[in-house]
Amino acid sequence: MLKNYSPAQTKSWEKLQLHFTEVAPLHLRDLFAQDPERFQKFSFYFEDTLVDLSKNRITEETLQLLVGLAEEMELPAAIESMFIGKPINATENRAVLHTALRNFTDKEVMLEGENILDEVRDVQQQMKNFCNQLHSGEWKGYTGKRIEHVVNIGIGGSHLGPQMVCEALKKYQLESIEVSFISNVDGSDAAEVLRKLNPETTLFIIASKTFTTKETITNAHTARTWFLQTANDESHIQKHFVALSTNKTEAAKFGIAPENIFRFWDWVGGRFSLWSAIGLPIACALGYDKFEELLRGAEAMDKHFRDTPLQQNVPVLLALLSSWYTNFFGAQAHAILPYNQYLRLLPEFLQQLLMESNGKSTDRNGKAVTYSTQPVIWGAAGTNGQHSFFQLIHQGTSLIPADFIAAANSNNPIGQHQPLLLSNFFAQTEALMKGKTLEEAEAELRKKGLSETEIAQLAPHKVFEGNKPTTSIMFPKLTPYVLGSLLAMYEHQTFVQGVIWNIYSFDQWGVELGKELAGTIEKELLEAKQATHDSSTNGLIAYYTSHLAD
Ligand code: F6P
Repeated sequence: MLKNYSPAQTKSWEKLQLHFTEVAPLHLRDLFAQDPERFQKFSFYFEDTLVDLSKNRITEETLQLLVGLAEEMELPAAIESMFIGKPINATENRAVLHTALRNFTDKEVMLEGENILDEVRDVQQQMKNFCNQLHSGEWKGYTGKRIEHVVNIGIGGSHLGPQMVCEALKKYQLESIEVSFISNVDGSDAAEVLRKLNPETTLFIIASKTFTTKETITNAHTARTWFLQTANDESHIQKHFVALSTNKTEAAKFGIAPENIFRFWDWVGGRFSLWSAIGLPIACALGYDKFEELLRGAEAMDKHFRDTPLQQNVPVLLALLSSWYTNFFGAQAHAILPYNQYLRLLPEFLQQLLMESNGKSTDRNGKAVTYSTQPVIWGAAGTNGQHSFFQLIHQGTSLIPADFIAAANSNNPIGQHQPLLLSNFFAQTEALMKGKTLEEAEAELRKKGLSETEIAQLAPHKVFEGNKPTTSIMFPKLTPYVLGSLLAMYEHQTFVQGVIWNIYSFDQWGVELGKELAGTIEKELLEAKQATHDSSTNGLIAYYTSHLAD
């Protein structure tokens, strides 16, 4: 199964530590000046997608040593274990097979004696039939009207992926249907979505792997009550509520007809689930054929990941770079900067994917790790981010590697917007790499006619250290297929990082404590019980109860 060994004990780690002392003083500006081939040397391709690693603080030796680390951690065996369904999610004793959801081959994927592709394809057929009925108008609401609005109720993995994909592929959105999302248990989320809807033409998708997530069940009941206020008859629920879940029993208890439950399986992690029935809102918004294109893009990346040598394997290289910066440069954050408005929710999606997966400090031996793991993921669409947090990336005190992501062609080619957008992309990565020296800053000010005293005062503030690493990811155009491959790339990067860090990437025990405590406090609030917590928590609860409006 997965090798259970601290990366810090490997020979490669030791070599990387030594190598780091040689690379850290090098400036990217000089590395580019010395080697006109640097771009070619560090450019990698997945089909038409370019992944340019040349603006990273690496040499050819760095990549060799990092690949050596991956080999010592037995990454190729780990990749194979995932694809063939070994229970690599050991703390939950589960296989990790989201790749089976986008496997269009004839080869079987066996789990406990069954070819799971049979069930996967049954559910895909069910989704396809449902979409056909919905889009043709054959599926009718309780008053005989066609469904015009689909509302997905879910949170975390049952929300972020579908919402991000619907936003990213808005250009492909069908005109006959609108898809909205309710996720937050703050009643304002449901109130604002429901306010605009007509129960006769609205269908709710209750998306919850477990069907026990408090936020989702609460929102689902709110939607049910809202619907019944008008529909007035529980038998109408059948035509207006469907469920996506591994828990058929709970979904049925909610009142959802068995034929309207779209199942998936415990071998699909929540944050890896947009390819499963959890992707139904995507198929509703775009049509099933576009959803399938998304899956096919992911499948192509799966093949690349499984079959390409580590040295050219894009998700592997990205993961190794993350380890390079986190473990040797001490970076604690990583920015995701899509220069594409449609990808504006990508940073949020990747926050869950990477941080819920690899935000761990216990290794696979149950011991505290002695090295850093997942950096903080954050970001926003460019150029907006340039006018808020880029200052810190350029001149702050932390090293923040960044992924710049863009399509060569806009989905909305209006005037000169695209060249303007991309000139910012290119200029930012260049500026982050090059920086500006004191001499350059002084010369600029001199040219502007400032006095020597003024120059001495101002120039230090205009110095940019540069040497800030960026990875540029470019593709011809944002399509369902390209998006599928991009997302699968990040999924595999997530997995590889977990292998390198010797942690379990597919559980999330860390979110449990908060959930348990919220349950206890909820009871205290509802039953007006005496709170028995620390003085701060008691004080906050007292503030809340004493300020409740009558
Ligand atoms: O945040 C914890 C978590 O368990 C996520 O991993 C998951 O995506 C989310 O809650 C929602 O869970 P469910 O789909 O079971 O409602």
